[in-house]
Amino acid sequence: MSTEAPTAGRTPLMRPDWGYATGRDMEEITREDWEMLARQKTAFLAERQANHVLSMFRVAEEQPSFGYEISMYRHGLQAATLMHRAGFDEETVVVGLLHDIAYDASPDTHGAAAAAMFGPYCSDRNLWMLRWHQDFGAYHSVHCPGVDRGARERFRGHPHFEFTARFVAEFDQTTIRADLPTLPLEAFVPMVHRFFATPPRAVELP
Ligand SMILES: [Fe+2]
Ligand SMILES: [Fe+2]
Repeated sequence: MSTEAPTAGRTPLMRPDWGYATGRDMEEITREDWEMLARQKTAFLAERQANHVLSMFRVAEEQPSFGYEISMYRHGLQAATLMHRAGFDEETVVVGLLHDIAYDASPDTHGAAAAAMFGPYCSDRNLWMLRWHQDFGAYHSVHCPGVDRGARERFRGHPHFEFTARFVAEFDQTTIRADLPTLPLEAFVPMVHRFFATPPRAVELP
């Protein structure tokens, strides 16, 4: 471990009593330094992870729209607000808030991206919903040319089919209106922090 003052080009450490791993590439990092990195990473993520995700969510706040009345930021807030008012548990509200966080980065696979990001912190049901909500959304795209409205039918009978269908019907396809008031993001910030305070679990993406 190196505790010397940061040299030019080094990213500052989050805490002054932390150290940099020695070694110019990963093959040179010592076992002692790997253990130090593990300790520092645990503390780093405990402090940074939720804020990082919230920063990603806020990116869409000021972005223009390509035609929907509202941004993905307000869409997430509307979904979370309605789900909170419907009495859903906190984890599910957070999943609703963040379900389209990857839309602008990977529109065609944004459900898989969200499932990969949040699956380790949520239930199998919510992971499955994140993964496949796009296919369920197609059912509601009644007049959209070329959309297979029956895409969800291959999942009919799956244990999480009904929940996912309800999420999309009540909280996703309905939350694209400029006249739908929401709670401020600040109302959900503590929930997001508690969401990431649970230890991640190993998951297989469906
Ligand atoms: Fe989506
Ligand atoms: Fe959505």
